[in-house]
Amino acid sequence: GHVVSEAVADSLLAPGSADDNPDSRRKNDHIRLALDQQAHYKPNGFDDLRFVHHSLAAVDPSQVDLSTSVCGADWHVPIYINAMTGGSAQAARINVGLARAAQATGIAMATGSQHAAIRHPQLTSTFTPIRQELTGFIFANVGPTVTPAQARQAVEMLDADALQIHVNPVQEMVMPEGDREFNSWIDRIGQIAQESPVPVVVKEVGFGLSRKTLELLASVGIHTVDLSGRGGTDFAQIENQRRERRDYWYMGGWGQSTALCLLDAGYPTPAGPAILASGGVRSPLDVVKALALGAQAVGVSGHFLRTFTQEGEGGLVVEIRNWIDQIRALMALLGASAVTNLSRTDLLVLGQTGQEARLLGVD
Ligand code: FNR
Repeated sequence: GHVVSEAVADSLLAPGSADDNPDSRRKNDHIRLALDQQAHYKPNGFDDLRFVHHSLAAVDPSQVDLSTSVCGADWHVPIYINAMTGGSAQAARINVGLARAAQATGIAMATGSQHAAIRHPQLTSTFTPIRQELTGFIFANVGPTVTPAQARQAVEMLDADALQIHVNPVQEMVMPEGDREFNSWIDRIGQIAQESPVPVVVKEVGFGLSRKTLELLASVGIHTVDLSGRGGTDFAQIENQRRERRDYWYMGGWGQSTALCLLDAGYPTPAGPAILASGGVRSPLDVVKALALGAQAVGVSGHFLRTFTQEGEGGLVVEIRNWIDQIRALMALLGASAVTNLSRTDLLVLGQTGQEARLLGVD
């Protein structure tokens, strides 16, 4: 496939500064290994969810309102391009393409971790094209190891509307150069949230946030989370492939599926954080299932990255438009004229997800 915007992205980095440092090389590894994982359609927890079909429940697609509310903002559609990249020349090209596709389709987008730019200011230009291309909603992205001042710097770099804080202990453990100071994370998350100029979303990276974790996050003032569960991109496997000895070969598949996380999070606590869902979302039907289980919006990373690298920016625009049309069609079929009405659908929880939900005491 061809990647558009090559000339634009090539001009973003001074010769020689591109991809000759460990941060940039790691970012390129992540892109390559994540794309390998997208080569085949993989079954996941969403397949254990089945809508009960009611033949006379449908409404007209023209009656369906796709709007939703995220971090106090109104979105036209309940999907977004979730955090991926930045910090290398290849990452810059991808960011340009993703941001242009988000702009053309009116959806929100998260940047990949901005630590590379915080550490190496010359890499800032691999992130800033996102704001140059996209007038809509942008999530900045940092980990819990940054200071509140660095988190603010990340928000300002993109004039971002909200800030994602990724919590990725599995990835850090398996990553050869990973951070291991986990003790301080919850306090740091609280401090960053307290001083953030924009709303904060705490997200996983494909291992899932448990109910216990949501309660802890709520106690330090987090109002929105992105469950980002198992079922799609697997960073235990990616980081293990980056280790010379592949010592963590047994860690693939760690964590809870996104479907299970949604069931687990759906406890009747009015004080609980608002839910965004991501991790293993492969189709418009997966989106609608996540919305029916209480997500306010649904994030997609790996699938959209593959679409972009295979089919270019134009192909990604077509794919996102198709998804939006099909989300509308599925909601109409299910008789839901608004996203929140999807909670009234009948959803069966089968197989492994059903067993796990029962063991967690979720009904
Ligand atoms: C990611 N993800 C990610 N998340 C994050 O918060 N900061 C980051 O820098 C990255 N980097 C990154 C790179 C690449 C190449 C991919 C594919 C993903 C994780 C991402 O946001 C998401 O949580 C997981 O990928 C699960 O969603 P999918 O890929 O199964 O849709």
